[in-house]
Formats: sequence, structure tokens, C-alpha cells
Amino acid sequence: MAPTAAAGVQHHPWDKAAEGWSRHSSLVNSWLHDVTVRMLSSASIAEGGRVLDVAAGAGGQTIDIARRVGPGGAVLAVDISARILQLASENAHAAGVSNVTTQLADAQQLGLAGASFDAAVSRLGLMFCPQPVLALREMAAALRPGGRLAAVVFSQPQANPCVAILMTTALRHAGRTAASPFEPGTLFSLGKPGVLAELLELAGFSDIKVEPVTAPMHLPSSRHYLDFIRSSGSPIMEILAPLPVPAQNDAWADMEEQLNRFTSADGWCGPNELLVGSGRLGAADATA
Ligand SMILES: C[S@@+](CC[C@H](N)C(=O)[O-])C[C@H]1O[C@@H](n2cnc3c(N)ncnc32)[C@H](O)[C@@H]1O
Repeated sequence: MAPTAAAGVQHHPWDKAAEGWSRHSSLVNSWLHDVTVRMLSSASIAEGGRVLDVAAGAGGQTIDIARRVGPGGAVLAVDISARILQLASENAHAAGVSNVTTQLADAQQLGLAGASFDAAVSRLGLMFCPQPVLALREMAAALRPGGRLAAVVFSQPQANPCVAILMTTALRHAGRTAASPFEPGTLFSLGKPGVLAELLELAGFSDIKVEPVTAPMHLPSSRHYLDFIRSSGSPIMEILAPLPVPAQNDAWADMEEQLNRFTSADGWCGPNELLVGSGRLGAADATA
């Protein structure tokens, strides 16, 4: 079934990475397995729960949640890209879960106030919001009192050297410079120490925790990593898109050369560090 449309959402750059992200679902799911387990337990997702999954993508974590809540529970998967959300629906159907619905919406304008979800999550999506506090407030408005939120984002560039190489190299080849690696709406925007916790507090959460989780990505070679990024890494694809194809190829070759430093006798392993930020809606002394 096609996702429900929301007012104001048009074609989005992530549409172009949708097929690639979905095709790499097993890579993404194994890369993010541990952090996803942590996200789901930080959000206290349990059997029978009603869960909001924001920036759901092709539905990797949506399916995990659907299985965990079981037939008595439900998941609403929301994304800004109609194409990726359609793939999330198809992937959920193929996985045999029937308690998933989808809604096309910008996380910053969910329009789900009063929906009384038990939990809200977002895996690698919140950092793409230019105004993440709006997204967190919208998620808070969709929760019941005492409901829990957990979000996974990238930490700092130095702990994510491969992503940092992709960003700086793409920007350099595109003739652009970033004022800061933490610019709003970009990969590392919520990785600066203290930022995620502060935003969670501003959005009305208590019992706030922000914990780092290492998430190395294992692949046979740097070429495999770049194959993934070239088809699925929307932020990098977008930076390079205005360049002529030969210039784009130069940029990808430059990245591959730098990424080769993570090759060993065992293959290629790209280090990553993610943050799991979580909190409970309501005052610190409220009970869930
Ligand atoms: C890196 S993918 C992560 C997808 C999925 N959560 C996962 O971990 O496999 C980022 C997702 O965020 C979505 N996204 C980006 N900006 C968004 C926004 N403002 N509102 C809702 N979704 C957004 C993209 O369309 C994409 O599906």
C-alpha cells in the first residue's frame, strides 16, 4: 500500500538513495544490530506497545520493533521520502509483519499530537533535521505521559573517520567548505558533546541518558563500502550531484584511496561511534 501523504511533503533527495538503502538492508541491519538493541531497550519497547518510528527509512528497525511488540502492538513508520517509505511497507510485508503502518511526514511537522504512543524512536534520522528540537517536540507531543523516546545519531567526526573522510572529500571536490562539522541538518550535527542531552531536555524529557556505542562496519574492501555509499549515502550523493560525472568519479576515487587505510589482512573495517540518546516524557519524579 502506498504511504499516506502529508501536506507540504514533495520529492525529497532521499528518494534517490531509497533503493540503495533498501538493497543494503542486511548490511545496515548487521552494522546497526547492537545499537538497535540498545535503542529498543532504552525506549522500553515491549510486547503490546504502540511505537512511533521516525525517519524509518526502508524499515530495518521498524521490522525489529514490529516483532518485539507482537500482534497486540503496532508501529507507525514515518519518513520524509515517499519512495523509501514505500520500500519500508514492502519490506515489512515481505518480513511477514502485519502491524506496521506508514505515514509520509517531515519529522519536524509530524502532526501526531495526542496520539499517545508508548514509545518513539529514530535511528540515524534526527541529525538530518535542520531544527531537531522541533522533531523532538513533535515526538514528545505524540507520546503518552511517561512514554519513552530513544534516538541514534552519529557522534563526533574523530570517532567516525570514514564518514568524516566522505564528507570532507565530497565538499572539497565540490568546492565547498563547511563552517563547522556540526552544521545543522548534517551527519555530525548532533554529535557535539552535550547537544543531544540539551535538546532532549528542551523538548520536555527527563531521565535523560546519552550513551556512546561503537558500531564498526565490516566489509571485504573499501570498494564495497563505497558501493554502499554511492547508492545509499544521500548526503554525500547530494554534495557531488552538481559535478560532471568525471569529477564525481575523481571524488569517489580520492575517497577510496583514503579509506584503504582501514584495510587489514581480515578485510576492511570502518570504525564508527553512535550515540543513543533517551528520555522519558514528563517531570523527573513522574512515574511511567
Ligand atoms: C540514514 S537513513 C536511516 C533510515 C532508517 N532509520 C535506518 O536506520 O535504516 C535516514 C532517513 O531519514 C529520513 N529523513 C531525513 N530527513 C527527514 C525528516 N526531516 N523527516 C523525516 N525523515 C527524514 C530519510 O528519508 C531517510 O529515510
